[in-house]
Amino acid sequence: MELLKEKIKQEGIVLSNTVLKVDSFLNHQIDPVLMLEIGKEFSQRFADKGITKIVTIESSGIAPAVMAGLQMNVPVIFARKRKSMTLINDLLTAKVHSFTKNETNEISVSNKYLTENDQVLIIDDFLANGQAAIGLIDIVQQAKANIAGIGIVIEKAFQEGGQLLRDKGFEVVSLARVASLEEGKVTFVSDKTA
Ligand code: G4P
Ligand code: NA
Ligand code: NA
Repeated sequence: MELLKEKIKQEGIVLSNTVLKVDSFLNHQIDPVLMLEIGKEFSQRFADKGITKIVTIESSGIAPAVMAGLQMNVPVIFARKRKSMTLINDLLTAKVHSFTKNETNEISVSNKYLTENDQVLIIDDFLANGQAAIGLIDIVQQAKANIAGIGIVIEKAFQEGGQLLRDKGFEVVSLARVASLEEGKVTFVSDKTA
């Protein structure tokens, strides 16, 4: 997605060989116009999948997921990372290990909002090692819903998540695929669909 890649080139800050900071439009301040375009792109790319629900994870997955849900006219569910005071019954949970932060968290979704008839699109802001996506997949499968695809805003293609998910047979659509962050520079995978 050219608009997204331009934004990353202009505003992305390479913090290290593995970490890209995009706080000006995705992870802290949010650019709603760009998010809407991202939502439209996901909607087009998954148009033939009969999507009935979108599942994401708080917090940074919510903005792109909501815009996709708006375009596709389907509800958006976000997995919680912390226990909620009101969300206590009939929880589907999964453990997610972050290699980056070296911590394991339990994420949860109420089983009230996912049924075996759902065709689910999983959306997240970043794909690194894929552990958040694996946790969301686990939860969707516990609800016996079908995973119709995975939509990622920024995939770090030099980390293992993309390969891991595609090897499991999931259709992963990443709107920008970063090939490298070396020498302080963002290089994209020269792939016409990225
Ligand atoms: P994984 O799910 O792919 O295995 O990723 P990992 O544990 O490495 O990611 C932990 C957190 O860091 C996630 O956000 C993820 O989106 C984010 N992240 C991973 N790589 C990058 C990167 O290069 N740049 C940025 N900006 N974020 C990255 P989170 O802590 O769950 O936070 P949030 O959703 O509340 O923002
Ligand atoms: Na995230
Ligand atoms: Na994040």
